[in-house]
Amino acid sequence: MSDRIVSIVDDVAGRRIDCPVYEPTHGAPALDIRKIQGGIGMWTYDPGFTSTASCSSAITYIDGDKGELLHRGYTIEDLTEKSNYLEVCYLLLNGELPSAQEFNQYEALIKNHTMVHENIRDFMTGFRYDAHPMAILSATVAALASFYHDSLDVTNAEHRTITAHRLIAKMPTLAAMCYRLHRGQPFMYPKNNLGYVENFLHMMFAVPAEDYKPSPTAVKALETMLILHADHEQNASTSTVRLAGSSGANPFASIAAGIACLWGPAHGGANEAVMNMLDSIAASGESIESTIARAKDKNDPFRLMGFGHRVYKNFDPRARCIEKVCHDLLDELGGDQPLFQLARELEQKTLADEYFQERKLYPNVDFYSGIILRALDIPMNMFTVMFAMARTVGWVAQWQEMHEDPEFRIGRPRQLYTGPARRPYP
Ligand code: SDX
Repeated sequence: MSDRIVSIVDDVAGRRIDCPVYEPTHGAPALDIRKIQGGIGMWTYDPGFTSTASCSSAITYIDGDKGELLHRGYTIEDLTEKSNYLEVCYLLLNGELPSAQEFNQYEALIKNHTMVHENIRDFMTGFRYDAHPMAILSATVAALASFYHDSLDVTNAEHRTITAHRLIAKMPTLAAMCYRLHRGQPFMYPKNNLGYVENFLHMMFAVPAEDYKPSPTAVKALETMLILHADHEQNASTSTVRLAGSSGANPFASIAAGIACLWGPAHGGANEAVMNMLDSIAASGESIESTIARAKDKNDPFRLMGFGHRVYKNFDPRARCIEKVCHDLLDELGGDQPLFQLARELEQKTLADEYFQERKLYPNVDFYSGIILRALDIPMNMFTVMFAMARTVGWVAQWQEMHEDPEFRIGRPRQLYTGPARRPYP
């Protein structure tokens, strides 16, 4: 906290409150309004929390105007170019990059937890073959709590740590199982002699009948995707995990709540929605101009999926990284070049449009990600599962940070009541 004070004065009631100010490492200072109700008898009103800091955090920083994303101070560009997903997991959870020895120990630790209880396999086969993988994943992650009674004390740091390892290790296994169930193929066990991403691709696409080796380009593309989706400040799903966890709910239940929130098309479901949009433009022959016109039409609920962001009022740096990976991957593996060209044309025409310029609407992380996932033969209904798999480390790191925060308390927002006035029962 600084010695800076901001005073709020209600000159009608002649009341005033002096609010202390917290200075950040980067970004906007924060006004401490916790005593405002006692001071001037008012709440602050901020639907969608557009101007509200719900917590302090040292994990990720976004500068929406510059289009900058930092994880523990390192730029997303450096991390996607020089790091790998498990190293980013270590960084997000521990605050510093690991030494080579620390990384090897961490990787071995995660590999110890890649398998799931055999009963989870039976649990999963209870779903219909065409159940949406996000429904399966959120239910199965919540069900994991029923296997770990020995380590669900959220006040116990060791329990929180082993749960973090279990979730990061098991999400690829569960995600691949969702896909295999859908395909009617046998579940593939993890192979711990493979790297994190290779192991996931093995569980997704290997079959007992033959050997499988993913292309290094595919592994690199997916590694980049996972890093780009790892964490993103207090987005809707992360805020859901924090709020669920603030009641002391077990971490599996809290992460399952985050998965449910991510599923929404305005959030993590956007990558699937972008591909549906591009496919329908390509199939219907609808012109890009008419698509853009529909997105601008207030009487049409249609929005240009993959565009706009609550925080980024410049390019989403992740979209730029993904667009580059798209190039390399499609050049190497082929894939839907026409769709990629359509996406790039849509982006160029949208960015040239005044409506989008005025509202500072740029492509976000979801705009190109679906093209990469499709080039990796990952079906559309698995796109948000991929996002959830990547974001698990961010959810867990933020959940851990909340429990270690001395100011931690249950989240309980207030409201502006607009219902009927007090009245007698007739
Ligand atoms: C993610 O928070 C995060 O960090 C999320 C995320 C993460 O990593 O966790 O980055 C991941 O969720 C990315 C966003 C993916 N969603 C989409 O691509 C769906 C399409 N985008 C929109 O639904 C929207 O842009 C949001 C939800 C992303 C942001 O919504 P906001 O901040 O509440 O913005 P808004 O709805 O207040 O819109 C402001 C104006 C409005 O017009 P006016 O009322 O001022 O005239 O911009 C318009 C909106 O109608 N607008 C769009 C638009 N997005 C906003 N118009 C057309 N197409 C769009 N995509």
